[in-house]
Amino acid sequence: MLHLEHVAKNFGGLPALCEVGFEVKAGQLTALIGPNGAGKTTLINCITGILQPDSGNIRFRGQNLVGLAAHQISHLGIARTFQNLKIFPRLTVLDNVLAGLTVQGGNSLLMAMLRLPYLRHRERRLKLQALDSLDRFQLSAKADWPAGILSYGDRKRLEMARAAVSEPHLLLLDEPVAGLNSEETAAIAEQLRILRSAGHTMLLVEHDMDLVMSIADEVIVLDSGRCIASGTPDEVRRNPLVLEAYLGTMEATA
Ligand SMILES: Nc1ncnc2c1ncn2[C@@H]1O[C@H](COP(=O)(O)OP(=O)(O)OP(=O)(O)O)[C@@H](O)[C@H]1O
Ligand SMILES: [Mg+2]
Repeated sequence: MLHLEHVAKNFGGLPALCEVGFEVKAGQLTALIGPNGAGKTTLINCITGILQPDSGNIRFRGQNLVGLAAHQISHLGIARTFQNLKIFPRLTVLDNVLAGLTVQGGNSLLMAMLRLPYLRHRERRLKLQALDSLDRFQLSAKADWPAGILSYGDRKRLEMARAAVSEPHLLLLDEPVAGLNSEETAAIAEQLRILRSAGHTMLLVEHDMDLVMSIADEVIVLDSGRCIASGTPDEVRRNPLVLEAYLGTMEATA
C-alpha cells in the first residue's frame, strides 16, 4: 500500500533521514520504532506532505506522493494523528471530528473549520458519521463539550476518532499512547486491534514496546535517520543492531 525508497531529509545540512526504504502492506499494522530523534515524526511528515523529502520516492497505492500538498495527500486517503496534539480547544468534540471529514474532502484544516457551520446544518449524514466515530472511541457522551476541557487521555482518543472518521486507506499514528496510564493504554490497544480487524492499514510510531510487540505484524526500526532493521516483532527483538541502538541511548542518557 505504501512504498518508500531512498527517502532523505536534511535540516540545515544535518541528515534527519537517510536512504529510508520500507513497505507498509495492506491490512497490516506496521510499527515504526527507534530512539528519540531517530526521524520517525520527520518520516510521517514527509509521507503526509507537511515536509517534502529532499530525495527519494514515496508511493501510495501506485501514486507518487512526493511534491503533493498535505491536503492532496489526505484526499487520497491518508489520515494521521500528531505527537503533539492538534485539536481545536474552543470547538466542540463533535466539530473536531467533523473537521477530519472535511479535510478528507480535499480542504486544508483551516478551510475545514470555516466550512463547519455549513456542515453542522446541512450535512446530517456527516454528523452521524462523526458521532459514530466518537462512539467507537467512547467519546459520544462528550460530543458537545468544548474539546479544550477534555482530559489528556480523552484528547488522544479524540485525535484518533478524527483521523479514523473518514475511513482512510492508511492511518498514521504518532505515539498514540504517550503519556497515558496503563488502563488508558490498554483501551487504545484494544481500539487498534478493532481497527485492524476491520481491515484498516496502520503505521504506528510508538515507544511503548509492550504495545508494539503485542500488536504489530511488522516492525521497522529507525536509528539516526536510517532503517537498521525490519521484521516480525520476534525477529526485531532478537536483532543485535536494535539492542545496540536502544542500549546506546540508555548509556547516553545515563
Ligand atoms: N523542523 C525541524 N527543523 C530542524 N530539525 C528538525 C526539525 N524536525 C526534526 N528535526 C531534527 O530531526 C531529527 C529527527 O527528529 P524527529 O522528530 O523526526 O525524531 P523522532 O524519531 O520523532 O523522535 P521522538 O521519538 O523524540 O519523537 C532530530 O535530530 C530533530 O532535532
Ligand atoms: Mg516523534
